[in-house]
Amino acid sequence: MKTINTLAKHYDQEARERLQNPKDSGIYSQNLKDLNPENSRLGFGCAELFTFLEREQIQNKRVLDIGCGAGADMIYLNQIFSPKEIMGIDISEEMIRLANQRFSQTHLKAIKTSIEEFSDPQKFDLILSNAVIHLNQRKTPIFQKIYDLLEDEGEFLCADFMTQTPVHPKLLQEFQTSGGLFLFGGLESRDVYLNGLASAGFEEVEVLETRCFDPSPQIRNILASKPDLLSSLRQTQFLIVILKARKMAPCQIIPILCPQCKSTRTIKHYASINRQIHLNLCKKISGQLWSPCPSCERLEIEAWMQYHDMDAKKMVVALPPEQKHLRAELEKSLLGPMQKQMPHYHFYLCFGLSEFKKLCQQ
Ligand SMILES: C[S@@+](CC[C@H](N)C(=O)[O-])C[C@H]1O[C@@H](n2cnc3c(N)ncnc32)[C@H](O)[C@@H]1O
Repeated sequence: MKTINTLAKHYDQEARERLQNPKDSGIYSQNLKDLNPENSRLGFGCAELFTFLEREQIQNKRVLDIGCGAGADMIYLNQIFSPKEIMGIDISEEMIRLANQRFSQTHLKAIKTSIEEFSDPQKFDLILSNAVIHLNQRKTPIFQKIYDLLEDEGEFLCADFMTQTPVHPKLLQEFQTSGGLFLFGGLESRDVYLNGLASAGFEEVEVLETRCFDPSPQIRNILASKPDLLSSLRQTQFLIVILKARKMAPCQIIPILCPQCKSTRTIKHYASINRQIHLNLCKKISGQLWSPCPSCERLEIEAWMQYHDMDAKKMVVALPPEQKHLRAELEKSLLGPMQKQMPHYHFYLCFGLSEFKKLCQQ
């Protein structure tokens, strides 16, 4: 693996070249290009992240952009969402200089440091990284640092180059040692990210988007004289993946009494998950069956409650028994979309306390 210094020099050069020869980065939508054309030419990322963010998540919040490059995502984020503060960090001096030159407001600043060495006395509400982590071979300390830097209920939104299955070790070794391919030296499968984030402590990790991309023509040229590696290359499916990981506030341990045998067991209740799921449900239902309050989005159903079992990945939405006649409609309009959004969860609807208790015990 090339050292951080080699990476930093590479991106110093990229910054100089892009400044002399501005070109469309190919990531941003036409709306964003129109909003700030110069900025759209100074993005080095692999995806546009803003469609996955909501204003209330960011307004008046602290944001950190890891590997911020020339600050393109920071500038758009500021223009669209007005956060309280956006800090960017990057190992490339030229990128940092370029970013700081372009910031016209004091709540945006970029600092030259690596994520591994960075620390801050205050935590962040949102952390972004766009095409950065794949450049680093040791991901565990990075995921752990991100987790530690986040506030409770804070989110990490990441777009990166990954693969469908593990890269063949010989091919990976070639990436790490060959001059022309070192940017692929930290390439890992999507599962490495998902498992790594979960091991760092993130309770919720969601894949938001997966796209295929094909860098093999460029790689093939470099590997032209190595047929065994070319065959490994053919078996490698390259992806651009966007994923989101949420750090939960500590959970509450709630005792549950079995109505039959009267024994008690405990469940973990994460208020923050329930709140998010509640909001999602409100959004799904609104306009279809009930209207939520326009200011707080609370649904005006008194007995609306939820139960969430983190370990069993089980979510029960409980409604008053008199709503039972809506079961089929609710199942269709709620459970299907929820399941799609969070495929590793089981969602259940129940009506009245006895159904609720039964489902909680299963
Ligand atoms: C492909 S560029 C993406 C830049 C930016 N995120 C964007 O979307 O324009 C990757 C950036 O990550 C930086 N980088 C790589 N590893 C890093 C690390 N461990 N800590 C901080 N920055 C890093 C590089 O210097 C480079 O500027």
